[in-house]
Amino acid sequence: MTFKTTLRWSDVTPHSAYLNRRQIMAAAAAAVVARPALAKSKYSTDDAPNTYEQITTYNNYYEFGVGKEDPSANAGDLKTSPWKVKVDGMVDKPGDYDLGDLISGLPIEERIYRFRCVEAWSMIIPWQGFQLSGLLDKLGVQPSAKYVAFETLLRPSEMPGQKQSILEWPYREGLRLDEAMNPLTLMATGLYDKPLPNQNGAPIRLVVPWKYGFKGVKAIVRITLTDKMPPTTWNMMASNEYGFYANVNPDVDHPRWSQASERRIGAGLFAGRQDTLMFNGYGDEVASLYAGMDLRANF
Ligand code: MTE
Repeated sequence: MTFKTTLRWSDVTPHSAYLNRRQIMAAAAAAVVARPALAKSKYSTDDAPNTYEQITTYNNYYEFGVGKEDPSANAGDLKTSPWKVKVDGMVDKPGDYDLGDLISGLPIEERIYRFRCVEAWSMIIPWQGFQLSGLLDKLGVQPSAKYVAFETLLRPSEMPGQKQSILEWPYREGLRLDEAMNPLTLMATGLYDKPLPNQNGAPIRLVVPWKYGFKGVKAIVRITLTDKMPPTTWNMMASNEYGFYANVNPDVDHPRWSQASERRIGAGLFAGRQDTLMFNGYGDEVASLYAGMDLRANF
């Protein structure tokens, strides 16, 4: 990977000091539970993470309003337990699963990922989650399947944004099967050593670090294996602006703004913008998925 910063604090501090710093940070973020440190992932970026405060108060989640602070203000009443996920389509083990049963046995890791929003801002987020590939293997994907489709909960009583037709509800996203099976593709259930806050997509959301953030569908209640490219919310809304692939690409501008650079949330007034990297810096892992494809046409 071609990340710009070379060292993370864990590389220059002994493990015990690292844990202490982690604990201090967690305390600063008002953590209440101490949990064992998770395995560090080789896929984590070296960039310093954004704060818990930044990650949980600057969100896009239109079910709770269109303002960046609306989700943290309005998502508190969403009931995320019990939680059912319907699995259907071209899969050996379809069903209506309790979330705990669905994900039991899948190894949870911490993955510190770059997160690049299509609106040209970015963050570094320490997610906890498991590889989507592990879940798909457990469910038994049938050979005819070519795509995975995801749906968010539809519950206007607890998601006030759904009482308005800002988007076509429920929020929908999808991946090509090989994208879904890539080891970078994560199902997140936590961040910063804590369960996922509602505003970030509790209890389970998708994280695809080489794609724009809107692919990261939150509060997932349905996973469908299909042989057809699934309709996706932002593409249905404005197909000339948001494609199915949504790969981070500094060379392909959004029709209304440049994607060549980004503003790192929390970097400070004088930090300036930084260059956006092809595939958000994950090209070594994912460029081969798109070999021979015209990325201008398949944006
Ligand atoms: N999922 C649902 N259900 N509804 C949304 O409005 N917004 C998307 C994505 N997932 C969205 C969603 C967009 S545009 C972004 S940038 C990310 O969530 C933001 O994730 P974060 O708030 O955890 O940073």
